[in-house]
Amino acid sequence: MRYKIIAGNWKMNTTPKEGVDLVTEVLELIKSTDLTGTKIVFGTPFVSLLAVAESVGNTPGVYVASQNISSYDGGAYTGETSANMISACGAKMAIIGHSERREYFHETNAILATKADKAIGSDLTPIYCCGEVLADRKNDSYQTVIQSQIEEGLFHLSAEDFANVVIAYEPVWAIGTGETASPEQAQAVHAFIRNLVKSKYGAEIAENVSILYGGSMKPTNAKELIGMPDIDGGLIGGASLKAADFVGIINAI
Ligand code: PGA
Repeated sequence: MRYKIIAGNWKMNTTPKEGVDLVTEVLELIKSTDLTGTKIVFGTPFVSLLAVAESVGNTPGVYVASQNISSYDGGAYTGETSANMISACGAKMAIIGHSERREYFHETNAILATKADKAIGSDLTPIYCCGEVLADRKNDSYQTVIQSQIEEGLFHLSAEDFANVVIAYEPVWAIGTGETASPEQAQAVHAFIRNLVKSKYGAEIAENVSILYGGSMKPTNAKELIGMPDIDGGLIGGASLKAADFVGIINAI
């Protein structure tokens, strides 16, 4: 089944207490919202996973995600956090391959392919990010870039494993800039991605994969974006840090 997903990516913001306060406020505001067919996700810093997952508890339709995972299982990798540890904190999802990870921490498609395996191996749904930088958009190579990100990072997965993946399309030029892809621009890329999935895994899996848009999504533009046929929700940075804004986006579904 194709879910609508509104996922917050808090990035390197919030202490555990601030995170718990934010989640408590959001849950209070959506307590009478019908979340059938929808998933709400809080992508927290590692240090907040446990506390936030405890606050979320078994609230139906609400999940916690990490923003990264190690490509190693465990052992002498100082500073790393394994998929198993993340899962043990109560997270059900892991954001993988965010453009900030790709750019500042040099994560390649090959590394991300391993991270996708680790996530799936620990029952974490990967939210796999892709998206072009402004130069790729300007010189019209963005489809090639996105295609390699998807093929090299995900297409080694079996159909059964791929069926658990969520994709997030985040044009880098729209992240944190206030500039959003137009609904038509985003829809065109989402349809392109869904088509890639169809060619590889067939129509049923392509129909069921949730493809999120990310990049300056706000309550004021969410409805138009999520209203497009291949846009199944959002991965939200800045606007996920304020309960009212995040809930405004949830209410746009
Ligand atoms: P933004 O970030 O909503 O602040 O543009 C999105 C993201 O980086 O996931």
